[in-house]
Formats: sequence, structure tokens, C-alpha cells
Amino acid sequence: MNIILLGPPGAGKGTIAARISKEHGWPHLSTGDMLREAVRDGTESGAKAKSYMDEGKLVPDELIITILLERVAHDDCEEGFLLDGFPRTIAQADALVEQGIRIDTVLNLIVDHDTVVRRISTRWTCPTCQRVYNSITLPPTQEGICDDDGEALYQREDQKEDVVRQRLVTYGEQTEPLISYYRKKGLIKDVEAGGEVDSVMSSAKAALNNTSE
Ligand code: AP5
Repeated sequence: MNIILLGPPGAGKGTIAARISKEHGWPHLSTGDMLREAVRDGTESGAKAKSYMDEGKLVPDELIITILLERVAHDDCEEGFLLDGFPRTIAQADALVEQGIRIDTVLNLIVDHDTVVRRISTRWTCPTCQRVYNSITLPPTQEGICDDDGEALYQREDQKEDVVRQRLVTYGEQTEPLISYYRKKGLIKDVEAGGEVDSVMSSAKAALNNTSE
């Protein structure tokens, strides 16, 4: 199944995508992770993307569309994939249509802004496997250390409160219009995402069970 996870920063897109990916084996394609890797590797795309990301703005469509289309063409996406963080503009959604990439469902994670600011400020990430933790709601077994590979966890540069607030503005202006874009196509499944992870996951699974490929 080809799935898009939509929702504001900190809604839990990465957390829910990782769990669905583990259950079904569909690859979890996070454009944020791809860009952060490009920045770390010092690639040309990473150098172009960094200043936009640091300011809480979207990177240019042509840059991210090229990266995403190249990734979706890999063999491991044949049985399905989860898009986390893409599309984020109408132009990006249109690019999927132009390339004939079918989308089966769009999980729209709904959560209020105060909750996402709180969640993001307490998020910790593994630099190696990208697993996401939360020091309050989803802590690792040993404080500051990834359960999977023993690496020291870090906090992303774009999780400072002023950058998060800008990311929420960017989301409202450029990404929220995708909700009506996909609702008109009959693809949106609203998922109440303000509760604990297990209950969000149950709602997401119920939505997927109601989706035909
Ligand atoms: P990206 O990395 O995609 O960031 P984002 O969409 O802003 O989302 P986040 O990763 O911050 O949050 P999330 O919804 O995945 O939540 P998470 O699971 O981590 O993008 C970063 C930047 O890259 C963008 O600003 C932009 O510059 C650029 N970019 C990326 N894609 C782009 C595109 N397509 N076009 C242009 N630019 C692009 O959860 C958050 C925290 O809450 C965690 O600590 C987690 O443990 C915890 N948590 C999750 N769910 C729950 C729950 N139910 N209850 C309690 N805690 C929870």
C-alpha cells in the first residue's frame, strides 16, 4: 500500500510511520531524514537545503522532488511505501500525479499546536538509526542512549521553540491546503493524534484496514 502521513511538525508522523513500516515491511521514506543525511554528508543538496531547514522554511520543490522520486524508484518500494514529510506543497503532490505514482491513502494526523511544541522540545533522536524517542512519553531504557545501537541521542537543530513556531506557520500556509486537495480525491483518513502512541497507532491501523489498494 502507498501511504502519505500528513500533519504538523511533531504530530508523530515519523513515530507512526516507523511502527507501520515495522509491521508491514513497507519502507519508511522520511524526506526530513534524507535532507539531514545530505547535510551531514556535505552533499550539494545538503548545502542548498541547510539554511531553509534552520529557519523552519521548506526547501525548494525541485530539490526535494528530485530526491524523493529517485528514492521511490528503488525496488524495495514496489510493494508499498510510507511517505513521511512529502508532499508538503501542492506542486509536490502534483509531481506524484505526473509521475504516475499511485497513492492509496493519506493519514491526516490531527493534534493541537501546544501539544506539538511540547513533544518536539522533549524529542531525542538517534544519529545512526534515526529512531525517535521522547524523554517524557517514549524514553529510552537508558537515559540518552539508543536502545537499538547504543549511540548517544541528540536533539535536532530545528527543534528550538522559535524555529518550531515558524515551522507551524509554514505548515499552515503551504502544507495544510493538501488536506482539502486529498479530501477532494477521497483519500483523507483523519486520525486523532493527541493521545498516547498506542491509541494513535490503533486509529491509524483502523484507517488502513478501511482502505482498499
Ligand atoms: P521533517 O523532519 O519532516 O520535520 P516535520 O514534518 O516538521 O516533523 P517532525 O519530524 O518534527 O515531527 P513528526 O511529525 O515526525 O513527529 P515525531 O514522530 O518526531 O522536516 C524537517 C525540515 O526538512 C522541514 O522543516 C523542511 O525544511 C525540510 N523538509 C522536509 N521535507 C520537505 C519537503 N517535502 N519539502 C520541503 N522541505 C522539506 O514525534 C515528535 C515527538 O513526539 C517525539 O519525541 C516522539 O517520541 C513524540 N511522540 C510522537 N507521537 C506521540 C504521541 N502520540 N504521544 C506522545 N509523544 C509522542
